[in-house]
Amino acid sequence: MSIVRETNETGVTERPEPTGPWSAVIAGTGHAVPDKVMTNADLEKLVDTSDEWITERTGMKERRITADGEAASDLALRAAHRALDDAGLTPADLDLIIVGTVTGDMLFPSTACVLQAKLGARNIAAMDVSAGCSGFIYALSTARHFIAAGTYRNVLVVGVEVLSRITDWTDRGTCVLLGDGAGAAIVRRAPPGPQGILADFLAADGTRGPDLYMPAGGSAIPATAQSVQQRLHYLKMNGNAIFKVAVRSMAEAFNRLVRSARVKAEDINLLIPHQANLRIIQAVARTLHFPEKKVFINIEKYANTSSATTIIALDEARRKGLVHVGDLVMLVAFGAGLTWGGVLIRW
Ligand code: UT7
Repeated sequence: MSIVRETNETGVTERPEPTGPWSAVIAGTGHAVPDKVMTNADLEKLVDTSDEWITERTGMKERRITADGEAASDLALRAAHRALDDAGLTPADLDLIIVGTVTGDMLFPSTACVLQAKLGARNIAAMDVSAGCSGFIYALSTARHFIAAGTYRNVLVVGVEVLSRITDWTDRGTCVLLGDGAGAAIVRRAPPGPQGILADFLAADGTRGPDLYMPAGGSAIPATAQSVQQRLHYLKMNGNAIFKVAVRSMAEAFNRLVRSARVKAEDINLLIPHQANLRIIQAVARTLHFPEKKVFINIEKYANTSSATTIIALDEARRKGLVHVGDLVMLVAFGAGLTWGGVLIRW
């Protein structure tokens, strides 16, 4: 058994290192969004839409668009450096990289591997998680379990999307909703204690896949001149069909997390839901009888950045001073797959 040495104001103490299950603590967060802003007025020039419709139906005012020549790994790199700085770590301290994305640099290698190289990290494990807008939640929960088992100490978890590259700019039903961005968190192994991820919940319904998908570019419909001509390399969404599922599934995630962590719903200090539509967020709060003032919303600035929304929001909330030691913070999300889930963290 190894010995842990801790220094504090009363001197140095030594104690046997616990064998787990370990706590998975968020030691740092960061985010990065492209500089280019696309407003609702800009979209009015592309498709038959209006600022009024987009604002009323979605709550969105602006979104960010990645510059030519930049890929998901470039945004992820900036977010990762900010999270590492926040945690006081360097890439050399990392043991695992997990990236939640559906718009990685390419089909393979994984964006996590590209990011590992760009960070100059050691030859540590690196993998992507494909869970649509729930990507960050799936990745964070995976990190938690590797840490609880004692396998890794410091895990970099990223949610990143460059949705603008798979957006059909002629489809007003989807193009007004999407944006680009990245967020990152450092999840650190800590001795069992009150802080850290208290509960996670993941679910999926594969029968509903065609409600939100990109048909071509994989082995089912490889890229051909015809697939491009038929616009099959763009995101397709049955928005009406998934609106209700989004509300129901995020509310389910909330209730399951509260139950499994044995906390009271009213003790949650901050709820960070996936930012897909302001009306979905408001409906989740209404369904749960949860006060809207404790729900973090930044959809007006970035629109739907899929797997990046919850971690961008968590980082913004922290930097605004909205998250305090001891707070209960919950992330819930819903997305392609269909997938949904959530994570409850004691700060
Ligand atoms: O990230 C997770 C996945 N995404 C989601 O969870 C999104 C879930 N769905 C939604 O957020 C909403 O269903 C949308 C925002 C996609 C659509 O809002 P809606 O209130 O459900 O509108 P709708 O699809 O019922 O369309 C209402 C009307 C239609 O016109 P008619 O048939 O009533 O004449 C649409 O053609 O609004 C029209 N419309 C638009 N008008 C102006 C649809 N898109 C637009 C637009 N601008 N961009």
